[in-house]
Amino acid sequence: MSFLKEINRRRTFGIISHPDAGKTTLTEKLLLFGGAIQEAGAVKSNKIKKGATSDFMEIERQRGISVATSVLAFEYNGIKINILDTPGHKDFAEDTFRTLTAVDSVIVVIDVAKGVEEQTEKLVEVCRMRNIPMIVFINKMDREGKDAFDLLDEVEQKLGLNVVPLSFPIGMGYDFKGIYNLWEKNVNLFSGDSRKNIEETLEISDLQSAELNTIIGQKPAETLREEIELVNGIYPSFNKEEYLDGKQQPVFFGSALNNFGVRELLDCFVNIAPKPRPKESEERLVNPNEQKFSGFVFKIHANMDPNHRNRLAFVKIVSGEFKRNAPYLHVRNNKKVKFSSPNAFFAEKKEIVDISYPGDIVGLQDTGTFKIGDTLTEGEVLNYRGVPSFSPEHFRYINNADPLKSKQLNKGIDQLMDEGVAQLFTLELNGRKVIGTVGALQYEVIQYRLEHEYGAKCTYENLNVYKACWVDPKNNKTEEYKEFVRVKQRFLAKDKRGQLVFLADSSFSLQMTQQKYPNVELHFTSER
Ligand code: G4P
Repeated sequence: MSFLKEINRRRTFGIISHPDAGKTTLTEKLLLFGGAIQEAGAVKSNKIKKGATSDFMEIERQRGISVATSVLAFEYNGIKINILDTPGHKDFAEDTFRTLTAVDSVIVVIDVAKGVEEQTEKLVEVCRMRNIPMIVFINKMDREGKDAFDLLDEVEQKLGLNVVPLSFPIGMGYDFKGIYNLWEKNVNLFSGDSRKNIEETLEISDLQSAELNTIIGQKPAETLREEIELVNGIYPSFNKEEYLDGKQQPVFFGSALNNFGVRELLDCFVNIAPKPRPKESEERLVNPNEQKFSGFVFKIHANMDPNHRNRLAFVKIVSGEFKRNAPYLHVRNNKKVKFSSPNAFFAEKKEIVDISYPGDIVGLQDTGTFKIGDTLTEGEVLNYRGVPSFSPEHFRYINNADPLKSKQLNKGIDQLMDEGVAQLFTLELNGRKVIGTVGALQYEVIQYRLEHEYGAKCTYENLNVYKACWVDPKNNKTEEYKEFVRVKQRFLAKDKRGQLVFLADSSFSLQMTQQKYPNVELHFTSER
């Protein structure tokens, strides 16, 4: 197959949702339809379950699963589909944000009873900012939930989306009869008894036909006609270009657990979802069909075995062909590197591959040379953007609890930060180290992993920080900037890349600082 054909047949996407909406179930059903797995239950949920096991054992279990499910690839009707897994737990939201830099589109799963939940709002906001094409899947239609129109309203209001229903439910919960597929113009019947069967599809090109009354009953048929008329009146018709530009979001209804509505979703997805898209680098826009290889690291996974400290770096291929044993430029280190055993991912296994294409993810063995965000090329100096750090929510000093192991501690902290487990800030005043995280759980992870993987012990001390703000260096020659640095020294730190960060202790002090030093620009992400 030619290079261009290989690119054009790839669809790389992520599924995002609030925990429990059905992400794992939907992923599994997509793999079943793709023939990549034979039975339900094969894809393990990677969410952190509170309960019998202590948190860090749970984290280890989850890490094991998330290696296996990081990339799930399968073929469907000649299309190569790569699903990038995103962690469900909110404390690992940064991981998800980073994974979103490597997808070309997303599917948003919403629970029909719960509607739009907090985690979905945050993740969709990131996708919206980046104009990532989104398809919404409203799940659990076999249960009582919100009225379809109310839910569509909620999706528009809370998520700021412009929805276009491509399917519409006929009843719900106990009375759920199926869906009318506006995309294919047919009715899919939900089969009653076991509620486990795959749907029966009936071609009903004319909603007015009497046949519909016989199939779903007169009352539901009348309601459906009215509702579809309303849908056609309220919502614009589907426009692929608008969807691809992130301006319009098609919506499907179904029940992942019952295999219902999943085939429609998949068929439409392979039809409309974007093939690998061009990506902005600091230097220029790079097209997937350029002959020369380039890609970037969006995730690093440490080996679970403490005796083998090597890690797996996940690289999204942006352009050209990635070839085994070819020399590539590690742009940040300005060094040539070769990979003798790059991994490609299939349903649930990884295998060594000789060649991979734009859209694909390769897993590279790493002995500590990669950081999240690093770019690899065939020689050109390119730096891919889009793996920003957000201000953490929690801040704590990290102290060495075993003075004989300070080297191990520093190395451990260094490597865990490269993996993106948390962010490190070093105070300008006294060089003390501060760890910033999205969730409190990360402190346990760090302590546990430092001890088990690096033989180092640490303690934490609370630190009152409201927000980390990255200081733009562009005015650093001005008197105002110099005064800011002098007066605020106590609150200044360097992040891991050496960028200056202002650690504001309250929203009031942040406001006052901004008023007093209007020309010192403060940013809420590390990316300007
Ligand atoms: P997540 O990855 O988004 O966190 O959600 P997951 O797929 O694990 O689904 C969360 C729960 O919702 C699971 O039940 C799952 O079986 C259920 N579920 C998913 N899709 C549907 C659906 O279409 N209809 C109904 N009724 N339930 C659905 P659980 O009891 O938490 O887990 P399990 O014991 O079934 O694995």
